[in-house]
Amino acid sequence: MATPFAIEPYLKDVAARVDAGLAALAEERRGLGPDRLVDAMKYALLGGGKRLRPALVLAAAEAHGGGAPDERPPGGSLAMRFALAMECVHTYSLVHDDLPAMDDDDLRRGRPTVHRAYDEATAVLVGDGLQSLAFRHLLASPDPRALALGKLLADGAALMVEGQQRDMDGEHRRLGEAEVLELMRCKTGALLAASVAGGALCAGADAAAVYPTGLALGLAFQIADDLLDLTADTATLGKRAGKDAAAGKATLPALLGAVEARRRAEALLDGALAALAPLGERAAALRALARYVLDRKK
Ligand code: IPE
Ligand code: IPE
Ligand code: MG
Ligand code: MG
Ligand code: MG
Repeated sequence: MATPFAIEPYLKDVAARVDAGLAALAEERRGLGPDRLVDAMKYALLGGGKRLRPALVLAAAEAHGGGAPDERPPGGSLAMRFALAMECVHTYSLVHDDLPAMDDDDLRRGRPTVHRAYDEATAVLVGDGLQSLAFRHLLASPDPRALALGKLLADGAALMVEGQQRDMDGEHRRLGEAEVLELMRCKTGALLAASVAGGALCAGADAAAVYPTGLALGLAFQIADDLLDLTADTATLGKRAGKDAAAGKATLPALLGAVEARRRAEALLDGALAALAPLGERAAALRALARYVLDRKK
């Protein structure tokens, strides 16, 4: 039997490299505009976070024969460029998600949300700025494949926004199962799917062929997020627990119950693992990340 893959050290290594890349990216704007905005962008970017999407990008590249995660060509690999862009878009989505007009949260990644630490206008602008930073960084690559990655990221970001609208419209309404799944596919599934597909593309694989596996993981990830909101505590999560029911959020656990929702997530994970099986040993990190999507405690 293969030794279990140590996912925590893997994520720690990715986080260290991603943190350094994100700090440098934000600092590129220093002196071009108000310091306060750069500081607020850094506050949002560097406040912790699991860095799951960057890890999925890098592990998907590795799984499809791309460079090992410790290969660092000058200027960063295309996969790392995409990973940083993806994390910028994800962080922007969190900053806006927490605004009073949306989920109205005061805690994120164990610290006050951006609009609490700064102000609402700054939080709106931080999100906007992070999105520009993401595409600027990706498209600065001399690699022609950056265009395809840009389209993948843009499609994912557009779906995320549409999913957030569905999420807000769905509050205190009893959506059917298909509607809840569509909401989840858009708001969360799309960026995780784009992470896996983009990583594969960086290794020369067919992004469209891998996308459904990433989407299955994305749906499982949101079910896990919704279950953690029900069962975990605020200190562990670093964000307020138990808010979804109060806000009348349309989630799978709310619709089907926690046990059935967990079963659905496990079935999605099984499907993803089956699809990854033929990739063999080089997909060990990606498979471990897939399990982590469901097994995580925060
Ligand atoms: C939270 O994402 C938002 C959802 C899409 C459910 P993460 O759980 O990946 O948040 P961070 O990046 O680790 O803070
Ligand atoms: C957010 O979903 C998905 C995003 C697009 C940011 P949630 O609203 O459930 O995320 P958390 O629980 O606040 O992290
Ligand atoms: Mg939300
Ligand atoms: Mg939220
Ligand atoms: Mg949530």
